[in-house]
Amino acid sequence: MMSSKKPFLKVPANEGERIRKILLEHGFLDTDFKIVSQNTSLYMPLHQKLQKEQIIGITGPIDYDIGEREFESALQGPRTLAEALKDHLSASELALVPRAYDLIGDIAVLEIPEELSEHSDLIGRVFHDVHKNFSTVLAKRGAISGTTRTREYQHLAGEIKTNTIHTEYGCRLAVDLSKAYFSPRLLEEHNRIAQLVQENELVVDMFCGVGPFPVHITRQRKAHVVAIDINPEAIDLLKDSMKLNRLLGTIEPIIGDVRKYTSKSEEAVASRVIMNHPSGAFDFVSDACRILKPNGVIHYYDFIGGKNPEDEIKNKAFKLVEESGRSVQEIGRIRRVRDSAPYEFQMVIDLLIE
Ligand SMILES: C[S@@+](CC[C@H](N)C(=O)[O-])C[C@H]1O[C@@H](n2cnc3c(N)ncnc32)[C@H](O)[C@@H]1O
Repeated sequence: MMSSKKPFLKVPANEGERIRKILLEHGFLDTDFKIVSQNTSLYMPLHQKLQKEQIIGITGPIDYDIGEREFESALQGPRTLAEALKDHLSASELALVPRAYDLIGDIAVLEIPEELSEHSDLIGRVFHDVHKNFSTVLAKRGAISGTTRTREYQHLAGEIKTNTIHTEYGCRLAVDLSKAYFSPRLLEEHNRIAQLVQENELVVDMFCGVGPFPVHITRQRKAHVVAIDINPEAIDLLKDSMKLNRLLGTIEPIIGDVRKYTSKSEEAVASRVIMNHPSGAFDFVSDACRILKPNGVIHYYDFIGGKNPEDEIKNKAFKLVEESGRSVQEIGRIRRVRDSAPYEFQMVIDLLIE
């Protein structure tokens, strides 16, 4: 039986069933591994290490411990997709089988290379046999495109659906992949921005999508977030998420073109503006500057290639702010958020504006 080192949450055995259900519901429990019972405690295998606030936030006051240890695999038969497909595909095809996938709530999303497209259904079925805990297996079809930044998906196995509840850092997010943009790869960035927000700030999220920034922020801080998106389906999903979470702050969801919102604004209202629309934010920097108070912060996102993406985003953002009639007082963090294409990153720069 194979085993692996995993982060764990150790809880008293008499609390085990309650905590197991909570961890499962929040997507933290790694069901590919067996829970270990030792003396009067249970060790629950987790996908990621949890912070104290996350644990107490979802379980309430509890006697617990965290760490890492070996867990036995709960899977029977082949452990990897390539292993399970070895009698069905040639060696050169097996080399192209995806090693990773996106996990969004109870949906797994595979990226199947063009060369294997005729085997997509088989790959999806076999993937579902290996990973039985997913309700649905989808494949990406084509690139993210258009104003709403959505793409098509092909159903491969399991329940036919594209909607789910995705949990990141304890935030429950209503997602429908066919209707509105969502990426599970931005969780660190959502949480990073939420931690920078101070109590009573007024934040404008210009391109909120299904609202991960607003939900992260208002779960952690007593702040007000104006959440704007041109895609009505994205705002409907945000409204669902507002009911799924206990929020300390408030969210004001607005459907529409952010330019209409900023041009109506008579005075600068925001202490912070989030511009996470990396393929189009450059066109809206003057709109952000218009609603931003003096000494306010802009989080500017862009797709940047080249050898020195840090310098490039800095130069581009400085120029755009200056063209808008404002100036950069200080640069906070410049960060490579994720790979967006070969030799290209989704970058973010935090700018304090005079
Ligand atoms: C990359 S996605 C949003 C990502 C979101 N901030 C997140 O972290 O998941 C960009 C979003 O901008 C929205 N959008 C595009 N043009 C817009 C505009 N002019 N006004 C408002 N929203 C816009 C799209 O509908 C899309 O949901």
